[in-house]
Amino acid sequence: MAEANKEILICRCQEVTLAMVEEAIAEGAFSVDGVKKRTRAGMGLCQGKSCERLVAKIIAEKTGQDPADVLPATSRPPVRPVKMGTIEGEMNA
Ligand code: FES
Repeated sequence: MAEANKEILICRCQEVTLAMVEEAIAEGAFSVDGVKKRTRAGMGLCQGKSCERLVAKIIAEKTGQDPADVLPATSRPPVRPVKMGTIEGEMNA
């Protein structure tokens, strides 16, 4: 099998390449969150919808883990600014 192009984009939103993901794994990232912290893969506009599974697959291949055992990224709800008056109104209700 031919060697994959190291400059292929794994995370299009953050422009993270295969080489960057592999380097993160070589530095000790064994979970999607570990790669995310080192490369920002998964922190883009799509919040990892496009790249999370690819990152998990690469981690599984490089570390010999079962793909189902690779820890997924931590999901957080979207945050929006809220006016203090809104919070104050709820506290006084
Ligand atoms: S492709 Fe990675 S966050 Fe969108």
